[in-house]
Amino acid sequence: MPTSERQRGEVRELFSAARIAERVRELGREIGESHPTGELVLLSVLKGSFIFAADLARAIDRPLRVDFLGLSSYGGQTESTGVVQITSDLTKPIEGAHVVVVEDIIDTGLTMAYLLENLATRKPASVQVCAMLEKPSRARRQIRIDYKGFVIPDEFVVGYGLDYGERYRNLPFIGVLTPPGGA
Ligand code: IMP
Ligand code: MG
Repeated sequence: MPTSERQRGEVRELFSAARIAERVRELGREIGESHPTGELVLLSVLKGSFIFAADLARAIDRPLRVDFLGLSSYGGQTESTGVVQITSDLTKPIEGAHVVVVEDIIDTGLTMAYLLENLATRKPASVQVCAMLEKPSRARRQIRIDYKGFVIPDEFVVGYGLDYGERYRNLPFIGVLTPPGGA
């Protein structure tokens, strides 16, 4: 394969696939145990959380519904614009349901703040947040993360669903993108 098509060499691993799998199993158990009754909806925020949500759903040992919401806040760059757009909406109402929002990463918190306000208007029984990663150093909104995978420093990460310009989502691990030529 030409070097330009290799991805792994461009990414310094932070969390291996095995470590992620172990953490996801723990989060799934926690979510199942804190929702003993009622309708549970796993709300996967696209696109970044699609891999995490797929693994998490299989780690939760109780009936649940999965739905997807497309949000876009970046437009291909690494800085938040603060402007959030719903690019595709839920397929069913969440009124009366216990919703767990599944996100790849909470960075500035602007996206999640917007989403939580929007969801509240739909009258769910409860809304909780499950994020694979948190980058607290960049927080501009205070978000309560009920289930958290890992806390990371202020570095741009890719893999396990996270992208840079739509690339790297398919890496099985999470790592830091290194500049071309190495650093
Ligand atoms: P926030 O609104 O700043 O919290 O950013 C939310 C979205 O930005 C996340 O759902 C990601 O899609 C994207 N994002 C933030 N930080 C990173 C990163 O380090 N790598 C890849 N995507 C990121
Ligand atoms: Mg995202």
